[in-house]
Amino acid sequence: MKILHISPELTPWSKAGGLGDAVAGLVKALAAEGHEVHVVSPLYGSVPDQEKLGTLIESLKVNVAGDPLRATCRVRKIALAPKAEAWFIEHNEYYGAREIYPAQENVAERSCFFGRAALDACLALNWIPDVIHCHDWTTGLIPVLLNTTAKGTLLGKSASVLTIHNLQHQGLLSKRIIPFLHLPEWLFHPDEIECYGGVNFLKGGILHAHKVTTVSPTYAQEILTAEYGFGLDEFLRRRKADLTGILNGVDMEEWNPATDKNLAKNYDAKKLTNKAACKLDLQKQLNLSPQSDIPLIGVVSRLWEQKGLDLALPVLPKFLRNGKIQFVLLGSGDPTLENNYKKLAEDFSQSAAVRIGYNNALAHQIEAGCDFFLMPSRFEPCGLNQLYSMAYGTIPIVRATGGLADTVKTWNEESADGSGIVFNNSDSPAIEWAINQAIKLYSSQKDFKSVQKTAMSSQFSWSTAAKEYLRTYKSAIQSVS
Ligand code: ADP
Ligand code: GLC
Repeated sequence: MKILHISPELTPWSKAGGLGDAVAGLVKALAAEGHEVHVVSPLYGSVPDQEKLGTLIESLKVNVAGDPLRATCRVRKIALAPKAEAWFIEHNEYYGAREIYPAQENVAERSCFFGRAALDACLALNWIPDVIHCHDWTTGLIPVLLNTTAKGTLLGKSASVLTIHNLQHQGLLSKRIIPFLHLPEWLFHPDEIECYGGVNFLKGGILHAHKVTTVSPTYAQEILTAEYGFGLDEFLRRRKADLTGILNGVDMEEWNPATDKNLAKNYDAKKLTNKAACKLDLQKQLNLSPQSDIPLIGVVSRLWEQKGLDLALPVLPKFLRNGKIQFVLLGSGDPTLENNYKKLAEDFSQSAAVRIGYNNALAHQIEAGCDFFLMPSRFEPCGLNQLYSMAYGTIPIVRATGGLADTVKTWNEESADGSGIVFNNSDSPAIEWAINQAIKLYSSQKDFKSVQKTAMSSQFSWSTAAKEYLRTYKSAIQSVS
């Protein structure tokens, strides 16, 4: 199969959260199945090692309105596998900034441009994909283009698949994008892409893609409800027959404690003694007291409402004050949340450490060095960190929502076969209960080790996910009219 992915993030070149990891992992797995896979992403100013990229198309005229000079870009490339390449859309005015999602005025234009450029690159190269797989809101108007403006081109027979990694972010932007993409005016209708007087990118993708997927079976159910639907549940219900949830996987080349180069010592499920060395290393690095007898709980996260970390704030001091836990957080986002967590670390300097910012090496060290990993999400489409935690023998403490509910099996005193601690309510008392459970589990090292073993033997592979995506691609191809 010829498969084109279009994504605003692609690890290791660009990553703001799990999306970059998910697309990179899936592309690798599809290529390993023998398919021809290309993935298109913008060439942000922050993309490392740009000198290593080759040129695929020196000057591509992209089919958008406006100044022809501004509508031209260069397409760079790098090989990922024998039949897989990453293509980067180089356009300094749109993507030259270092941030992936900068607060730029032309956000609608810059978001559409790389998707349109991806289609035009395929046409220019006469490489016609069987499936065009779009990721999240920035790519939402591509299935709309394929059903309208691009219908009469060679791409008119390509199937489209949209994966929703996060329904909260929809791209509700100016209707000026309609003439920019040469889209027909009739699309500006409440049953189409119109929304509150603007254009809703994700809604366009939901209505026009041949198949819609999201990143876990539970989230696929949740988004059909008003509670989790962010206003689009009605349109998702219309597409229910074409909606599936496919769990993300773990890229074991990146997230494997036996080979991870970021760690003080490597370890595996058979020999966990070196995990203790990772804990000590992390404690030293963060100036925490080097205690091995109390659990170290970690967080690596975007600090936004989704992640529910505001709900943990009133709870953590109770445990830190009594010396029951140590705590480390790495993240950035909402300034109030950042400040509140910084204050927590100031108040408990021996037992809590907070690092604001993005730091990939530290993220790996936290996964390895902690005993538990906290994810009290209000909603979680899939979540990768709980999967990484399990692979590292670090017990996830999660709220039963979305992919967290699908991947972590709860431990309790009666059933010793859990892989984590799962709680139901999205509130502080539930988090307090879960941390108490963690302390109880840690106090019996026999039980703790057994949960660690179960967690480490849980398998979430991209190869399994790729096979499910291939089934979805086949049925998308069948529904092309
Ligand atoms: P989301 O995509 O909603 O942010 P996921 O759990 O799917 O949540 O993925 C988050 C990814 O981003 C993980 O790989 C995590 O390690 C990484 N990450 C998040 N915040 C940071 C940070 N501050 N520094 C380094 N990595 C981070
Ligand atoms: C999103 C979701 C997260 C998911 C990731 C990759 O950012 O918030 O739950 O794991 O995408 O699919």
